[in-house]
Formats: sequence, C-alpha cells, structure tokens
Amino acid sequence: MTLDGVLERLHSPVVQIFVTGGAGFIGSAYVRALLQDEYAGAAGAKVTVLDLLSYSGNRANLPVSDSRLRFVQGDISDSDLLRSLLPGHDVIVHFAAESHVDRSISGAVPFVATNVLGTQILLDAARSAGIGRFVHVSTDEVYGSIDTGSWTESWPLAPNSPYAASKAGSDLLALAAHRTHGMDVVVTRCSNNYGPHQFPEKVIPLFVTNLLDGRKVPLYGDGGNVRDWLHVSDHCRGIQLALEKGRPGEVYNIGGGTELSNRDLTGLLLEACGADWDMVHPVADRKGHDRRYSLDITKIQDELGYAPRVALPEGLTTTVTWYRENRQWWEPLKSRAGL
Ligand SMILES: NC(=O)c1ccc[n+]([C@@H]2O[C@H](COP(=O)([O-])OP(=O)(O)OC[C@H]3O[C@@H](n4cnc5c(N)ncnc54)[C@H](O)[C@@H]3O)[C@@H](O)[C@H]2O)c1
Repeated sequence: MTLDGVLERLHSPVVQIFVTGGAGFIGSAYVRALLQDEYAGAAGAKVTVLDLLSYSGNRANLPVSDSRLRFVQGDISDSDLLRSLLPGHDVIVHFAAESHVDRSISGAVPFVATNVLGTQILLDAARSAGIGRFVHVSTDEVYGSIDTGSWTESWPLAPNSPYAASKAGSDLLALAAHRTHGMDVVVTRCSNNYGPHQFPEKVIPLFVTNLLDGRKVPLYGDGGNVRDWLHVSDHCRGIQLALEKGRPGEVYNIGGGTELSNRDLTGLLLEACGADWDMVHPVADRKGHDRRYSLDITKIQDELGYAPRVALPEGLTTTVTWYRENRQWWEPLKSRAGL
C-alpha cells in the first residue's frame, strides 16, 4: 500500500492497527488512547495487541473487554502466528522489546532474541502480509551519551549498553527494510518516559513505590546522570503523528520533556512523597552508565507539528497519585520481581 493509501485508510472510519508489546507500559498507554479516541486520525480504530506477557507485560494494563480490542498472547518471533494474525491490518506499531538496561547488563541474550531477531521476524511477516506502514518504536539510547548539545536524527548511532545496542540493531533493521525492500517504515527515537502503569523496576515507579512504603531509594553513583523526562502520553502522541504524517524511511526524535540529573529527579520525588534525603541510599554506579542524553526535536516539531503537552510538575504529581491509589497494581509485581 502507498503512503496515500495508508493515510486514506487512517482517515477512513475503521482502521485496523496491530500493536506489539501493547500490554507493557508505553504500548498500553497508546492502546488506551486509541480506544478512547484521543487521536482524531484513528477514531474508531480496531486494535489487535500481540504481547508475550513477559514479566513486564500485564493484561490489567488493557481494557480487555473493549469490543474494539483483540488481545493475543504470543511472541513476535513466532512467524506462523504472525502469518495467521497480520492479514487485514493496515499498520503495525512495534513496541515489544526487552526494555530494562540493568537486566541487559546481567544477561543480554533475551535482548538480542526479542529486540533484534524478533523485530526482523516481524518485519518479514509485515512485508509478506502487505502491511501499509510499520512504525518502529526506538529510543534515544541508540545515540550513546552526549556531554553537550543535542542529537539530531542524523547523528551516528553509538549505543553503550546491551539494551541500547539491541535497540540500535532493530532500529537499523527497520530502516534497512525500507531501503532494501521499499517497505513503508518510520522510526521514532524517544527519551525517558514516565507515567502510570510503568513496571516498578524503572527509576520513577521504583522510587515512588519504595517511598510510599517507607523504604529507602537506591541512587546510582554521584547522581549526576542526566535524562530528558517525557510523559508517556506525549510519547504516544508523537508516535501517532509519525504514523499518520511521517515520511517513509524517516527517523523522528521524540522528546522535549525536562532534562534533569538523577539527583534533581530524586529531590522532586522525595518532595512529592513527603520524604527527605535520609531516605536516599547511594549505590555503586551502573556499569557503563551513560552520562547524558539530549534530543533535538526540531524535525518532528517542524514537520509533524509535535509539541509536548504535559509539564513535569503536573506529570509527576499525577503519576505519584496514580501509584498511591493503585497499590493493588504494583504490590504483586514488586513482590514477584523481588524488588
Ligand atoms: N520506557 C522508556 O522510557 C522508553 C523510551 C524510549 C523508547 N522505549 C521503547 O518503547 C518500547 C516499550 O517500552 P516499555 O517501557 O513500555 O517496556 P515494557 O517492558 O513495559 O513493555 C514491553 C512489552 O513487550 C512485551 N514483550 C516482550 N518480549 C516480547 C515478545 N518476544 N513478543 C511479544 N511481546 C513481547 C512485554 O510483555 C511487555 O508487555 C520498547 O521498544 C522500548 O525500547 C521505551
């Protein structure tokens, strides 16, 4: 299908969207927004979620009884399953991944299996099924670490952690599918996300839930590592813009949140939870810890009209409230993961 065909389908009353990893943190935020018709270009969309339900995937993140949602538990590496599921879908939005840097340091093989091999299997299946557009959800971590300035999309990839290297592999394979086979692929590279339903191993939900339980929080190294924090709803809107209006074969950075050192972020979380610095326990730095990430988002702003909407103070307040009010969601996850 041509790009015009994709756009025509996207603006027709019912579009069929295939979402991988849709039971995870960001994928489920995207699916909930689709089903709540938050994106005019996909109003009424029907959604198929394919998710393995690994440790971070959670059926409770999705409105599974919604008649517009079909949930399938399965692996993106299962080509027979993909062959049976994909026909009839207009687009794929590919979130499924192993996503935690610390886990990739302890064991990188699942990261290569899902992020690299799984993505290639999905790309092949999408091409066979004649899927109109493939949006690959990548990360700013593929660029490595930057002391000053910000990365544009043409910056060379120089990933450091096994997670980032596996995401760089999948990102380049998605672009290769465009260049080699003419597939309509768009890649998004986003900064650090926060918001509700994030698995409580990641820094913001880990710190918030520990503090809500009166437990200390582990701060890596000198706390000087800098990240650009973006609310998950802003990431998802950027993905939807890339899906609807991005040019085939292009990469779009998504960011524009707030750049903060881990120490400053910790200060904000302590304040939001009514705790003080006694609750911070310094720990040895993460191996190979990237010092700073910073994205230039001029391209997505100028071409697609993207701008983040959720300011950090408001986003952190609503996020802390969500974790305060949804203990039944995170307590079993933490105890199962030994966190
Ligand atoms: N969290 C961030 O800050 C961030 C920033 C930029 C990009 N990203 C990217 O966004 C995507 C989603 O990240 P997230 O934070 O929601 O992660 P997550 O770990 O919460 O969700 C990943 C989902 O993928 C599923 N999954 C894992 N392996 C699978 C497989 N083989 N087949 C099918 N499903 C599988 C899991 O069950 C889970 O539901 C990832 O591709 C990640 O690299 C994340």
